[in-house]
Amino acid sequence: MSHRIAAKITGVAGYVPPKVLTNADLEKMVETNDEWIRTRTGIRERHIAEGGVGSSHLATEAAKALLAKTKTDPSEIDLIIVASVTPDMFFPATACLVQDRLGAKRAWGFDLSAACSGFAYALTVGAQFVGSGAHRKVVVIGSDVMSSILDYHDRATCVLFGDGAGAVLVEPAKDGEGILDFSHDVDGSGGQYLYMPGGGSLHPSTHETIDKNMHVVHQEGSQVFKYAVRRMAELAACLLERNGFTSDDLALVVPHQANLRIIRAMQQRLGVEDSKVMVNIDKYGNTTGGTIPLGLRDAVDEGRLKKGDLVLLAAVGAGYTTGGLLMRWAY
Ligand SMILES: CC(C)(COP(=O)(O)OP(=O)(O)OC[C@H]1O[C@@H](n2cnc3c(N)ncnc32)[C@H](O)[C@@H]1OP(=O)(O)O)[C@@H](O)C(=O)NCCC(=O)NCCS
Repeated sequence: MSHRIAAKITGVAGYVPPKVLTNADLEKMVETNDEWIRTRTGIRERHIAEGGVGSSHLATEAAKALLAKTKTDPSEIDLIIVASVTPDMFFPATACLVQDRLGAKRAWGFDLSAACSGFAYALTVGAQFVGSGAHRKVVVIGSDVMSSILDYHDRATCVLFGDGAGAVLVEPAKDGEGILDFSHDVDGSGGQYLYMPGGGSLHPSTHETIDKNMHVVHQEGSQVFKYAVRRMAELAACLLERNGFTSDDLALVVPHQANLRIIRAMQQRLGVEDSKVMVNIDKYGNTTGGTIPLGLRDAVDEGRLKKGDLVLLAAVGAGYTTGGLLMRWAY
């Protein structure tokens, strides 16, 4: 059964911090090389936040750009949702910090944690408030400062991620436009393959947790790789089939950007050619919550989306979490 939501994206914006970390820079930090990183992941460079810059700062910049683009006054915003696994701090929520900096006086908000599927989940949740008629303007943001939880001695993880944020405005839709369907699921048995063990209630930060390197990303990359290819392809096929579409009907797939080889393997299973797949991992790496809205932003800026286009968003992340949406692009 498909799940239509009477809500549409009416604007998209993004922000990445100015500092660039290239593969050549990483060659000086760990035993790696540009060729390995490019051929195994598709990444050439990523943006990294300076010290003192948290996810709320990137999220606020993305939201400000969104409000300017859509000519929205902050007082019009009803709800702000921030998807992040690297909030500035446990509390207050990043959404509260963003609400204050924007001066969005009427808005309520909260954070949502679903790792790389976070933006897809947050978009679905935000759209429900619009579809139900409760709200008219919801800002959904994906923002992560992954550099804050990386071990820059571990070549298997530190080359993969970057920092960035993207934001969309969600407003009511008429019949036939906007979000046609979504599909999300969780497989908690995969939690052991990608996680950060320290700093939470189970292992609060102590000198010992720091000494044991528990405050950084731990990953079994090949496990995550296989799961991501399989589930993203299954999810996409399911969304298309139950809505009576084939991959030929798609104008654009905007996948989570974790590894170019994951994206290519997924699209091959789906039977979608390169020209219909948004790729910007070369510039930003994996920005976790930021990848899909940054992909949408770049697609709009490059003129690759027009009103009525059938668009598929798909992500897999730590958890495991899987999330996807099918929509008619609305502007
Ligand atoms: C991490 C990832 C790029 C590794 O690629 P891979 O092809 O699976 O490579 P492997 O892990 O099998 O490692 C192959 C070799 O490269 C080495 N290697 C790993 N990272 C390296 C690096 N940055 N530079 C050079 N060599 C590296 C490994 O040590 C290994 O060497 P060995 O054969 O001597 O043991 C890949 O598994 C991946 O992208 N996984 C998914 C990650 C992901 O998406 N995470 C976020 C989820 S949203």
